[in-house]
Amino acid sequence: MRILGVCGSLRSGSFNATVLRTAVELTTAPRELVVWPDLGRLPFFDADVEESGPPAVVADLRAAVGAADGMLVVSPEYAHGTSGVLKNALEWMVGGGEIAAKPVALVSASTAVTGGDNARAWLSQTLTVMGAQVIPQDLRIPQAARKITDGRITDEETVAGLRGLLDDLADAAAKARADGNSFA
Ligand SMILES: Cc1cc2nc3c(=O)[nH]c(=O)nc-3n(C[C@H](O)[C@H](O)[C@H](O)COP(=O)(O)O)c2cc1C
Repeated sequence: MRILGVCGSLRSGSFNATVLRTAVELTTAPRELVVWPDLGRLPFFDADVEESGPPAVVADLRAAVGAADGMLVVSPEYAHGTSGVLKNALEWMVGGGEIAAKPVALVSASTAVTGGDNARAWLSQTLTVMGAQVIPQDLRIPQAARKITDGRITDEETVAGLRGLLDDLADAAAKARADGNSFA
């Protein structure tokens, strides 16, 4: 059972990156959570570049999505939506098509009380249009600065929520695999 994790924040002290790192720590065999490091390595999507053959880094991302049974997408909220780097990554994923029918779980951590609700709503709509199976369970982490300190989630309720979401995603991925939806 392989889950691919991506984080939409490039910030060194990112709360969302801490959440993804914690998700890796909470994942034990036979499950595996592999993080695709640094979405900032991707060039801006350009349909001309795509047509003439996507760069190796894009092929690498598409292969990682293709090899996964499901995805954990962790996003900050910037200007009422997801981050530019995450949207850019999704644009590159459209052409590959590997995300079709893959279960995807969404997490957002924000310093605001709204917890990144707009970012998750945007991601849910876009990923659904791309053919992904966004699972109904998600995790919102409002006032993240009070719950994440020195690169650790210090709020037990948030850790429990993350653990539960990983279980829900693994269940959905197992079902998708049994139904023959995943080619991993
Ligand atoms: C340019 C900018 C725009 C932001 N816009 C929003 C927003 O629309 N909604 C929100 O909840 N938080 C917003 N924030 C706050 C971020 O959620 C907060 O900085 C968060 O910690 C970013 O995630 P990270 O810690 O993973 O980098 C914004 C922050 C910045 C720097």
